Amino acid sequence: MEKIRIIGNSNLQLKGKVKISGAKNAVLPAIAACLLTGEKVRLKNVPLVKDVFSILTLMKELGAEYNIKKNSLSIEIKKIESDEASYQLVRAMRASILVLGPLLARFGKAMVALPGGCAIGSRPIDLHMHGLEKLGASISLKHGYIKAEAKKLCGKEIEFERKTVGGTENLIMAACLAHGETVLKNCSLEPEVISLCRLLAKMGAKIDGIGHETIRINGVKELGGASHEIIPDRIEAGTFLVAGALTRGNIVLTSVQPNHLHTVIEKLRYAGAKIETIKNHSLRITGSEEIMPQDVTTSPYPGFPTDMQAQFIVLMTQANGTSIITETIFDRRFSHINELLRLGANIEISGDKAKVRGKTPLSGAETIATDLRASASLVLAGLIANGETIINETEHLDRGYEKLEEKIKSLGAYIERIRK
Ligand code: EPZ
Repeated sequence: MEKIRIIGNSNLQLKGKVKISGAKNAVLPAIAACLLTGEKVRLKNVPLVKDVFSILTLMKELGAEYNIKKNSLSIEIKKIESDEASYQLVRAMRASILVLGPLLARFGKAMVALPGGCAIGSRPIDLHMHGLEKLGASISLKHGYIKAEAKKLCGKEIEFERKTVGGTENLIMAACLAHGETVLKNCSLEPEVISLCRLLAKMGAKIDGIGHETIRINGVKELGGASHEIIPDRIEAGTFLVAGALTRGNIVLTSVQPNHLHTVIEKLRYAGAKIETIKNHSLRITGSEEIMPQDVTTSPYPGFPTDMQAQFIVLMTQANGTSIITETIFDRRFSHINELLRLGANIEISGDKAKVRGKTPLSGAETIATDLRASASLVLAGLIANGETIINETEHLDRGYEKLEEKIKSLGAYIERIRK
């Protein structure tokens, strides 16, 4: 069992330069999109994280051949060997649901295990299924599996009842090979969705309105291969920005897209940090002695990302005053708070709000990670907690952060992975 061990202190100041990896939430739909063509697709700047290897295991089971060297991946699915995404694989990685749309579009059928809930919420996929049914798929639920079939998907006008990143991605991919025009309304605007559309367009898809809430897709007969660079991970970048603010440090982040972090940067500046954009996609953060409390409400892009909520809460434990953090996207995304309380944080939960009182000195303790971003928040808290912090269940962290402890160690922290 692997654990992360940190010897933290409240005077730690992280200093140095860190390269941000490619975005997990961009590479997963990009890999799923490869199902839409029999030709080779090349992806660069692929983060070597657990979720990537999970979806590649699934793709191999479906019939894909792939080769991954350093951070470059080439993948092709000449023919389908299976149309089933098993429960084991889907349970390991919910985003496996993203193969549903492409499988249906290219092969006319798919059997995908229902992802089920996870530590951050119930995670339904009704919006994915309703959208695919509108395109003409017949979908039934049996023994925990979604069984979907469609001789030919036909374009329709579909409006999402609520913003859904995965639902938008699944429907865009399905519509690329549907007959006629599909109009998707109330689409998610996340950079990862835009990046997927750009890859699909390179593959020959006819997509208008990329980056807007209404996207028009004119189906084509087939798609071809392409080369595509995965965008930087804005959540990893945001995590390091919080680390810089939290330790009053001085960190340069390279390979970032500052315009993907607008709301996070704005909130960190209000909290007192100095953040400058440097040439060639770099950011410098200089933390301030005093951290100002900030109220934050998560919302779909371009709002404050839910994936940054846990990390920002840790910063607010060190603010001089009280902050209210409101989580509007997921119904159970405060599981990290119980662990932060064990480190001495002063946080009260009431419904979708967490009231964070600062400035509260933290002390190291043994903790358990419950999900990916909760793990990141425990690492951040451990850095400034006095004494030893142990984080169990590191597999959550490894799902979405590439070499996190190495990167943090290079900035001057005492952090290591231990096997017990
Ligand atoms: C994506 O998840 C991300 N994952 C999540 O990142 C991110 O937190 C989330 O978008 C929101 O930004 C990937 O891209 C792989 P949603 P997704 O569909 O697509 C409800 C991380 O830490 N909903 O936008 O699953 C849903 O329950 C992960 O990297 C329905 O009700 O999120 C949630 O409350 C965590 N019905 C809200 O919508 C549906 O059919 C947003 O979900 C689909 C979603």
